[in-house]
Amino acid sequence: MIVTGFARDQWYVAAYGHEVGRRQLGRTILGEPILLYRTEDGRAVAMADRCVHRRFPLSEAPSHLVGDQVVCGYHGFTYGPDGVCVAVPAQRRVPRTARLRSYPVVEQDSFVWVWIGDRDPGDTTPPRAPWLAAPGYTTVCGMEPLNARYGLLVDNLLDLSHETYLHGGYIGTPEVAETPITTEVHEEAGVVYVSRHMDDAACPPFYAESTGIRGRITRWQDIEYHPPCLYLLHSRVAPVGSPPPAADGADRHAFHVEVVYAITPSTEGSTYDFWAVARDFALDDERVSDFLRESNRAVVLQDVAALNTLEKVLAGEGEHYQELSVNIDTGGLAARRILARMAGESAARPRSAAP
Ligand code: FES
Ligand SMILES: [Fe+2]
Repeated sequence: MIVTGFARDQWYVAAYGHEVGRRQLGRTILGEPILLYRTEDGRAVAMADRCVHRRFPLSEAPSHLVGDQVVCGYHGFTYGPDGVCVAVPAQRRVPRTARLRSYPVVEQDSFVWVWIGDRDPGDTTPPRAPWLAAPGYTTVCGMEPLNARYGLLVDNLLDLSHETYLHGGYIGTPEVAETPITTEVHEEAGVVYVSRHMDDAACPPFYAESTGIRGRITRWQDIEYHPPCLYLLHSRVAPVGSPPPAADGADRHAFHVEVVYAITPSTEGSTYDFWAVARDFALDDERVSDFLRESNRAVVLQDVAALNTLEKVLAGEGEHYQELSVNIDTGGLAARRILARMAGESAARPRSAAP
């Protein structure tokens, strides 16, 4: 079973910080249309993207910003950054119920996170991906929309044996599919760990071109999935025979790439696939940045094409199609279980009526 119910009362990535500015941005998250923009003092804000009057989208022209307020492009209802309507045409009195739902926002590690749910986030904070905005790393990133249900991308990322078949010529080599994985689940924290350590593997073009390594490599893939939204792949690459990391974690003989995905459900059958690649080498080399950006985007588009196909197949098969799982699926199955639990917990809670 693929999870289709959504986990609410969670943080989700809505955008990169650089996408949110003094122009409105519209995103649909867990089926909720959301307007994002930045106030004049630089604060990112998020609110419902439907005017309370006749539901015109506030993210679409001729809706526009005036200072920190957004003016509906249809009849001019005007809202503050907290979603409260401050002006309607042809009357002085603004109805008390004229307010947009506003969403808690946290900006961190180059992402704009929004809290989707009915409860207050309290002191919960989104999980971290510090490399994306840290000194000592250079990052390339992008976002590809996916016409497939969210669970298919979670499955895809938790099992990297598909690299050998789907991404040959970029990141796949025979050793990825041949090497068994180890999976660990920290139930309390709700984190899934999947590791694959290859001692002696071919160096795929993605790493050969970017690092300059010409021979065979030791290649480690250590995945950390923080459901529902954040996926981290710690990738370590070193020439075969290089010393392992020291006890204190120092690892100067290896190249490190932190591959980060934010997996944000848009609707039942569509997903935002945010991807970022942070490296700790060739920091100022534009050629390496261009190469990694193009290569990773090509890899993501290969996944997008495969998952879009799979979505069409599954949608045509209804609820009760059969799957057969094997060892490589252990991480994906653990993720499904945690996501189903999260979705079940939010389904069990009564939803407040959204204003
Ligand atoms: S729909 Fe927005 S003001 Fe009428
Ligand atoms: Fe992939």
